[in-house]
Amino acid sequence: MIRIVIIGAGLIGPRHAQSVQVHPLTQLTAFIDPSPTAIPIAQSFNVPHFPSITSMLDALPRHQHPHAAIVCTPNHTHVAVAKELISHGIHILLEKPVSDSIESAQDLLSTINERPDVKILVGHHRRFNPYVQTTKTQITTNSLGTLIAVNGLWTLQKSDDYFAPPLGAWRADKSKGGVFGINLIHDIDLLHFFFGPITRVHAESIRPQRHRANTSHTAEEGAALTLRFASGVVGTFLVCDATPSPLNFETGTGENPLIPRVDPTKSASDCYRIFGSEGSLSVPDMTRWSYGGQALKGWNGDLTIEKVSVEGVDVKPFDKQLGHFVDVLQGRVREVSCSVEDGVRALMVVRAAKESLEKGMPVEI
Ligand SMILES: *[C@@H]1O[C@H](CO)[C@@H](O)[C@H](O)[C@H]1NC(C)=O
Ligand SMILES: *[C@@H]1O[C@H](CO)[C@@H](O)[C@H](O)[C@H]1NC(C)=O
Repeated sequence: MIRIVIIGAGLIGPRHAQSVQVHPLTQLTAFIDPSPTAIPIAQSFNVPHFPSITSMLDALPRHQHPHAAIVCTPNHTHVAVAKELISHGIHILLEKPVSDSIESAQDLLSTINERPDVKILVGHHRRFNPYVQTTKTQITTNSLGTLIAVNGLWTLQKSDDYFAPPLGAWRADKSKGGVFGINLIHDIDLLHFFFGPITRVHAESIRPQRHRANTSHTAEEGAALTLRFASGVVGTFLVCDATPSPLNFETGTGENPLIPRVDPTKSASDCYRIFGSEGSLSVPDMTRWSYGGQALKGWNGDLTIEKVSVEGVDVKPFDKQLGHFVDVLQGRVREVSCSVEDGVRALMVVRAAKESLEKGMPVEI
């Protein structure tokens, strides 16, 4: 049994705890959180609560020390908590983003290099979404041929109360909030997962709607981006959180229970279109176009339209992510799906996109 502690009993911590309790090879050991509000949460899972990592290690006998920890603390504490765990040789599933600053994330990277025995998986759990996994398989099995380009969308309407003070006010503030760091970062990570690293980004601002109504809304509301990947793939991406639209990952896949899914038989819901030399794929409706099996490959021929079937639509990405973490810890899989380096890369693209908005020029990464 792999003993796992959850650090941080906010919204995501208990969700991870459920996955740990469901997985046959893992055992939930404790919740760690400085706040007493975590006590009833730990009780509801029938495990002890400790205010800190040291107090847990002091209180538990050595044979009950955790093998691994899932870190779900506030973003700005991720690096310090991870470094403390590394110093005790405890493996880590670190919630995204790696950090709130690239500098501290890079500091974590150098700590990791000193302890290659400690495994760290960054929790960009969308990589484990069944539509994403199926898309990745289409790409790696060459079903689309040589990859040429991608076109992506993350467009929807955020509600006013999301930005309302006191709790929501930081989201309206340019230095802390903004759709790039909160939302686009997830799409960036998936684009990296599919096509490898992005090396250049250019962002043209959309016309801000909230800022027009209330000038203290300074956070970016969206942009049209052009992207270049090291692999040679190019991409365009439109992001806007101020327009009523179903064309975004959450609405299309239904992955977030708070954002209703649209009925795919009544509405378009695609968020990525991927273009290759042998075919194109639209995600998550998983429509594939090609001239498969036809003598004439070209615009005068009829396109073959297929629905690519998706395996494991009912498997929860969080459960699947934990399963992958267990596979890594037990040596069945060598590399983590999303490393700290991958996490830092996504942060760097977000920072470059913000810089490009300011400068009105493409930014190299
Ligand atoms: C404008 O937005 C700020 C930041 O969210 C908020 O604190 C303030 O109450 C808003 N003003 C009005 C008049 O709505
Ligand atoms: C931490 O970052 C995530 C983006 O992955 C965001 O959704 C969340 O609101 C952030 N939390 C804080 C407190 O900044």
